[in-house]
Amino acid sequence: MRLIIDTDPGIDDALALLYALASPEARIEAITTVAGNVNAVKTTRNAQHVLRHAGVANPPPVIRGCGEPLRRQPVYAEHVHGEDGLAGQWDGGEHAYGEGAVDEILRLARAYPGEITLLALGPLTNVACALAADAAAFALLREVVVMGGVLQPPGNITPVAEFNFHADPHAARDVLRSPVPLTIVPLDLTRQALLSREMLDAWLEGCAAPRARFVAALCHQYFRFYASMHGREFCYLHDPLATAIALEPALAVTGTLRLEIETEGEMAAGMVVRDLRPGRQTGREVRVVRECRMAEFFERFRARVLNGPGSGREE
Ligand code: BDR
Ligand code: CA
Repeated sequence: MRLIIDTDPGIDDALALLYALASPEARIEAITTVAGNVNAVKTTRNAQHVLRHAGVANPPPVIRGCGEPLRRQPVYAEHVHGEDGLAGQWDGGEHAYGEGAVDEILRLARAYPGEITLLALGPLTNVACALAADAAAFALLREVVVMGGVLQPPGNITPVAEFNFHADPHAARDVLRSPVPLTIVPLDLTRQALLSREMLDAWLEGCAAPRARFVAALCHQYFRFYASMHGREFCYLHDPLATAIALEPALAVTGTLRLEIETEGEMAAGMVVRDLRPGRQTGREVRVVRECRMAEFFERFRARVLNGPGSGREE
């Protein structure tokens, strides 16, 4: 599968990149970055940092994208992911990266018509800009798979909104309204991908490879954040789950729903709206993932993220 990963690393984005880079199904054509969990300078260098840890032979290019949402002021999540966006793990290294994520998405769509899956793990700013710049080229994408939105509140950034949709609600609305084949992996589902401290500790027992230490450091920051709210150490694997489903749709059960996105309001921006009134047709029909075989996902996550290329003990 030819993949573009549009991402805002971010701890779970970093884990998702490690997952994808170790996945035999994936041929990653580009990693495009966007402002989200932290600003776009940080998300870009974090993506590069993850590539170095992944130790793959021919790493895909990292290309920086939009630094601000379409219309709103940026909303970051440094309180979740750490000030550097990577649990304090960024090593200070700066490496060459490309500019122009939007152009690169369109170039790849034209170069491989009907072949590219665009996996969006952050706010949808780059994706919406690509759509606005050239809708015909955008329509050449095979599919867009989005981690975002919540159908059944609570949200995770406001009482009713999920972070990626709230951070750029106008982009989310534009992409949702576009005719491209679209699959949404919502927060309702990713909250079932709950990694506990005990589970990670068991996986990591006796494992001292640099990759394992990196993953442990990422997860420990994430655990601390959730512990501060819930009183126990765990985290949600939002972006890795969306990645797994994009690569292996057979892991999941998907339904079709007609959805619209609210773009205004301090709390409502990014809220997913379903019009349940009889006879009304508000919004567009999109595919929404409702269930996933979580045990299989966790097994793949363990094998690929902890033991994938660069771990020193490939399975
Ligand atoms: C999403 O928001 C971000 O903080 C995570 O990286 C994930 O993409 C979950 O709501
Ligand atoms: Ca993300």
